[in-house]
Order: sequence, then structure tokens, then C-alpha cells
Amino acid sequence: MFIQQSSVSEVARKPLILNDFGALALKFGSAICNQYVADCDGGPNQVSDALALTALRPCGLLLPKNSDQREERMFVCPDCKKPLEGLRCQTCRREFEQADGIPILISHETRYESARNIGKVYDDVYKNHTKAWEDQGRTPEFLSYFADLVAHFSTGSLLEIGCGEGFLLSALRGSRLAAIDLSSEALRSARQRVAADFCVAIAERLPFSENTLDLVLAVGVMEHFIDDGEATREILRVLKPGGRYLTLIHVDMSVGERINQKIKEYFFPRPRPVAFFQYVAKKVIRPISQPIQRLYKRQTARKCLEESGFVVDEIISSVTHPRAPFIGPHVLLFVARKP
Ligand SMILES: C[S@@+](CC[C@H](N)C(=O)[O-])C[C@H]1O[C@@H](n2cnc3c(N)ncnc32)[C@H](O)[C@@H]1O
Ligand SMILES: [Zn+2]
Repeated sequence: MFIQQSSVSEVARKPLILNDFGALALKFGSAICNQYVADCDGGPNQVSDALALTALRPCGLLLPKNSDQREERMFVCPDCKKPLEGLRCQTCRREFEQADGIPILISHETRYESARNIGKVYDDVYKNHTKAWEDQGRTPEFLSYFADLVAHFSTGSLLEIGCGEGFLLSALRGSRLAAIDLSSEALRSARQRVAADFCVAIAERLPFSENTLDLVLAVGVMEHFIDDGEATREILRVLKPGGRYLTLIHVDMSVGERINQKIKEYFFPRPRPVAFFQYVAKKVIRPISQPIQRLYKRQTARKCLEESGFVVDEIISSVTHPRAPFIGPHVLLFVARKP
């Protein structure tokens, strides 16, 4: 069925399903795999080689574009938004540092002082864990699904906020990729997977000029923004008119809902005792504690987007789109547009 540009329903309902050989190929590094898309009516259709190869990139099977071939970096001063010369702002005269070749473009405003400490917390997370958020549902199926959804809207200039180790970033198909995170450790790991313009920065003070990006995405990050209104207005600023902001959040649940969710994830309808044991072991032996600033309900997240100037076109969940590979109905993906 033809996908209307104005509606994401069709593409959002199309998870990528790898056949057995494809899954093995992904797992063991074979460059040959068949990939199928199950359409809304359930029948498998083979998709293009290009799409299949893109799906292999998260495994590091394809070399990313050489960063030397890229144009100059697109960063500006995060505070005054004027051009940088090297790592010095020619206008406000602020000097920025770098860590292992990655620019640290964190705002100098005192209200964002805590950002550096939050970054250190995440540095520890990424030093001690790989695939840190896999048990939050960042599975290969999720990454393929999300990358397809992004490509449906844009294959132009894309920015991922809070890219972590870069698993999703490396699955994206943009003519130009940029990514920020508070953790330089995360970016060190991400740049091994994909060529992109990386910098340590906060969403609340983005080091990009206005109206320059086609699409911004943030997966599991909105809950962490120090000031969600400021961050959302910044995202609006850097997007071109008509550009999309895809943001995925895990909404707040009651204790009962959490227990119910874990039962569904690990016991019913598909019992996964080994996965449950691994989940519990991780929680006990190597727990990840991260600074969460707030938890949203559907309405509060929507309000934040709308009050910042976005139009919310659709909210995708496993309830509205049963084949979306999300771990539970508490996972919501907002498709927002800059008018
Ligand atoms: C829960 S992790 C999610 C990582 C990744 N998006 C994923 O879902 O696998 C949140 C990430 O957002 C980053 N982060 C938190 N607050 C941020 C902010 N204000 N601006 C930019 N990145 C931020 C953290 O450093 C961390 O890597
Ligand atoms: Zn400046």
C-alpha cells in the first residue's frame, strides 16, 4: 500500500522481520542476508538490497563513510549561536575544550552547570556496560523499525540527541548525521560504529544554527532533559520548517502496572526464563542508576511539545500499532512537526 506522506500509520505498522538465515547472518557477521517486511496484511515482501545492507550496519559489518570525506563540521557556539573558529567563539569569546578529538560544546551558563556531572554519571555507565539500554527494548528489531520510520520522513540532515553508544545512529540513513550526548565515553563508543559529527552538548543549548536540520530524534532522553521546555524549543529552533522531531519516552507506571509489564515481558504469553534471570542478575550485580529529571504521562509530554511550538501529528504505541516492536504499552513515540 502506498504510504501517504502525511500519515505514519502504515510505515509505523511495518516492523522488519528477519528470516532465520538473516538473523544468523546478523549474529555471525555474514554480509549476505535476506530481509523481509511483513506488511499490514501479514504477507512477507522482500525489500531492497540497500535496505538489507543498512540493517547490517549496527553490527559493524559495513564500514561507515570515511570522516575525511565529510564536509566541515556544522557546529556553532551553543550560547550565542555564532560560528566557532577552532574551539573558540569569535563573538562571545568563549573557549571550548575537546576530549580525545570530540568537541565539548556544553553551554557556559551557570544553570546548566550540572550537565558536566550528569555526563560523568553516564561516562561510568558506558565504561561499565555495553548495550546499556538493550533491556529497555533497544533490540535489533527496534533499531530497524525506528530507522525505517526516520527514513520515511527524511534521509537528509539528521541529529540524534542522547545517542548513547550509537546503535540507532548507525542504522540511520541520512545524507548527514550529527549526534550529541552528555557522555564523551558514549560518543567514543558511537564513533567506532558510524561516521557522524559528534560533540558533547546539552539539548537545552544545541550547537547548531537555526532552520538547518531535517529531523531530530531522541530515544529515551526527554525524561533526562534538565529543562524540557528549553530543550524542546531548541529542537524546534534548529529544525527546518516542516522538519520532524521523533521522541520516544517511557511513561510513568504504577507499581501494579510495572509488575504486569514484567510478567508480559518475561512470562506471558512467551516464557523467557533465561532473559528474566539475566535481567534480575543485572539489576542485582551490575545495576545502572541514572539521573532521571521527570516522568511523563502521555498528556504532559504532549503538552511540553505543543507549548514549545510543535504540532503532534501522531503518537505511536504498541496499542495503536500492535506490530511496533516496543516492550510495552508504556512506550510512546511522538511524531512532532515544526509548522
Ligand atoms: C537512557 S540513555 C538513552 C540512550 C539511547 N538514546 C538509547 O535509547 O539507547 C539517555 C542518554 O541521554 C543523554 N542525555 C541525558 N540528558 C541529556 C541532555 N540534557 N542533553 C543531551 N543528552 C542527554 C545521556 O548521556 C544518555 O546517554
Ligand atoms: Zn559564542
